[in-house]
Amino acid sequence: MKYSRIAGTGSYLPKKIVTNEELAQKVDTTDEWIVSRTGIRARHMSSPEETSSYMGYHAGLHALEAAGLNANDLDMIIVATTTPDKGLPNTACLLQERLGITNIPAFDITVACAGFAYALSVADQYIRGGMMKTILVVGVDVLTAVTNWEDRSTCVLFGDGAGAVILQAADKPGILSTHLHADGRQKDSLCIPTWLPGQSKKNELPYISMDGRAVFRFAVRALEEVVVEALAANHMSQTDIDWFIPHQANLRIITALAEKLELSLDKVVITVDRHANTSAASVPLALDEAVRDGRIQRGQTLLLEAIGGGFVWGAALIIY
Ligand code: ACO
Repeated sequence: MKYSRIAGTGSYLPKKIVTNEELAQKVDTTDEWIVSRTGIRARHMSSPEETSSYMGYHAGLHALEAAGLNANDLDMIIVATTTPDKGLPNTACLLQERLGITNIPAFDITVACAGFAYALSVADQYIRGGMMKTILVVGVDVLTAVTNWEDRSTCVLFGDGAGAVILQAADKPGILSTHLHADGRQKDSLCIPTWLPGQSKKNELPYISMDGRAVFRFAVRALEEVVVEALAANHMSQTDIDWFIPHQANLRIITALAEKLELSLDKVVITVDRHANTSAASVPLALDEAVRDGRIQRGQTLLLEAIGGGFVWGAALIIY
């Protein structure tokens, strides 16, 4: 039986950091409101040069380095992003060009904040099926570029960044299972209402629009269900998990979920306080941070989950 395993991780964060205090000078908010509702204290914000392909490239290089590989070893590139550099070509092609390689498949997956879970699942299937041996999987977003900076209810929530993993074929797991879901009926709870210039309607803005309470309620329930599903599929319980790496949308969602799952916060990797919600980058950024600071060790069991606009959500159970 073939499995895929994480051979290396990497990440990139934009140089510019914006604190809550700085935001409070631009919109009617306070550090106290943001921290108490979301746990967010600061976020990284991209410059125009720090596009998704640029950040994904740097995260990918770090992951290759950690895996002891170079770009020529790759068989495929998958980039999860909702904020591509261009309408076309896709971000994975631009990243491939930055890596200086050609002729391997390179494509994007647009699944909002759940993008990394989806991309990881696709890469895992290609490796298990025997078609590919080594795949670069990137989660990257520049949500600050699609944020309405006059809307205090959304602009405090988001940040930019990229995370990456190298998935490689292995005889032992690796990725034990991935679990993906979607519910398009919830399309208006969290969306960017307009996108294509030729189809834009009057009064619709190309910015994130969100019903915060609806997102909160749905997220806690859906994430609990998918975590339980992942554990049951592997005949495991919460006590088997060494590290829980949740989507970093909001500390209240993370703690509500940890409470429901009876997971100690000591086992939860949290970056939302410094990164805010980086969408498809949030889980691989948190993963890379905890790998690099030594919390996550080889052989440990990891549970990843994420949810995004759609709604789309998913989880992965992994032996690191
Ligand atoms: N500063 C100060 N006041 C604010 C701000 C702000 N930044 N934003 C909203 N308010 C005000 C509102 O206008 C409202 O005022 P009103 O009562 O006079 O009308 C008041 O605060 C309360 O607003 P609520 O929406 O009820 O606040 P709530 O406690 O629900 O918190 C929040 C809002 C943080 C958005 C919450 O609903 C939430 O966490 N939702 C989940 C959203 C999320 O995580 N989205 C991320 C993207 S989705 C994803 O990745 C899964």
